[in-house]
Parts: sequence; C-alpha cells; structure tokens
Amino acid sequence: MQLHLSAWPEIEAYLTTSKAILIPIGSTEQHGPLGLLGTDAICAEYIARAAGDEGGFLVGPTFNVGQAQHHMSFPGTITLRPSTMIAAMTDWANSLRHHGFERIYWLNGHGGNIATINAAFAEIHHATSFDQSGQTHALRCSLRNWWELAGVTELIRSLFPSGEGSHATPSEISVTQYACPGTAKSAEMAVKIAPSGPIFDAEDFRRRYPDGRIGSDPTLANPEAGKKLVDTAVRALVREFQMFTKG
Ligand code: NI
Repeated sequence: MQLHLSAWPEIEAYLTTSKAILIPIGSTEQHGPLGLLGTDAICAEYIARAAGDEGGFLVGPTFNVGQAQHHMSFPGTITLRPSTMIAAMTDWANSLRHHGFERIYWLNGHGGNIATINAAFAEIHHATSFDQSGQTHALRCSLRNWWELAGVTELIRSLFPSGEGSHATPSEISVTQYACPGTAKSAEMAVKIAPSGPIFDAEDFRRRYPDGRIGSDPTLANPEAGKKLVDTAVRALVREFQMFTKG
C-alpha cells in the first residue's frame, strides 16, 4: 500500500489497524559513468514498496534528495544543506504524527545521509521533550540502510567478492537494473576498479575520483544479482518492520 496512490479514507482506515509507516530515503547524485543519478532513491524505494506489498503495510513518498555536496562537481547532482534536510524531515514526521502515526521507519539508500538522518531524529525527539503541553508523545523514528538488512551484506560479499567498493557499487547498480528494466548503460572506463580514499569537498572528489566511482567495478552489475538482493532485503525488511511496529 502506497500513500501517494491512496485516497484519504484509505489512510484513515489504515490508521485504525496500524500507526506505522515506512519512508524510503535516498539521494539524487552521480553514480559513476554507468549508474543512474537516482540510484540511492530507486534502491530504497523499490525494496520498500515490494516489502509493503508483501507485508501489507503503508509506504510513504520517497524522500529522494539528500546529502550530496561532495558529488556536486558532476552534472545532475542535487543536494540539500544538512539544516534544510533536518527541517524537511522534521516537517514530514510532524505531518504524519498529526494524523496519528507513531512509528516511522526510514529505509535509507545513501551512506552520506546517515549523520543527517540521525541529527533529524534528535531534532524531532527534542521537540517532544521540550513540549510543555502535557500531551503524550509516542512517535518513534528508526533508520535502516538497505544493504545492512539481515543477509544482504553477506550476499553482496558472495556476489561481488572484488570490485564492490563504496560508491557506484555493482550491488546498488544491479538493484536499479532489476528495478528499472531498460535503463542499464555501458561506458568505457580508464581503470577496471576505481581508486579508494577519503571524501572531502566536491572539487577534491572529482580530482581523486575522475569518473565518480570509489573502489568499484560497476561493469559487474546485472539484473539477476539485483533480483537476489531485492528478494533477500524484502524478506528481512518485512520481519524488521513488523517488529518495529510492535516495539
Ligand atoms: Ni549510492
């Protein structure tokens, strides 16, 4: 069940059975010469929607722009300042709370978002602690990165024992090739496995990683691997969301 494909009476009815919602959260940023700009949002969204269908729970709209400052030397990247993202996430959470939601599970597709998502949770929970109205606050937020769902990290290791790297990875690109048939791209790359190293600002990033990849060989990506990753992630997510709902 997806919020943006529902009418309000359906959400009103859902709230009589569950106070929990899952929100995919990603980024719009370069993913090397092969990867889609929407990779991080597509991975989180596809896995979330499949899990929502299987588990019968509500999936909200995708928060699809995040912390991508260090990718800004590559065309197409869109980024939010941390303060903007915290404010936007807080407003999304407060809107949902206003309607009676008490559990918001954020499924993340971008490592660069993690610090800011946790800061947003702190902001949301501060507001409730500082509230003097005397009303009871039951809102809880939870973060999970899709590649850390049970069994997924191990599967990635077995599918791509070398060349996984940390950005524009064959695993995430495999998921997009499975989720969005017909979008796979090809490109000549100067080196098979990209260099690894630290991340500073956008200009430095492009100097260190000229084609946008970090440590990865995305030519290994394939939709069959994407299906295996999605199936494993969905199974784990359904279980984890059900436990979060009860907690
Ligand atoms: Ni990514």
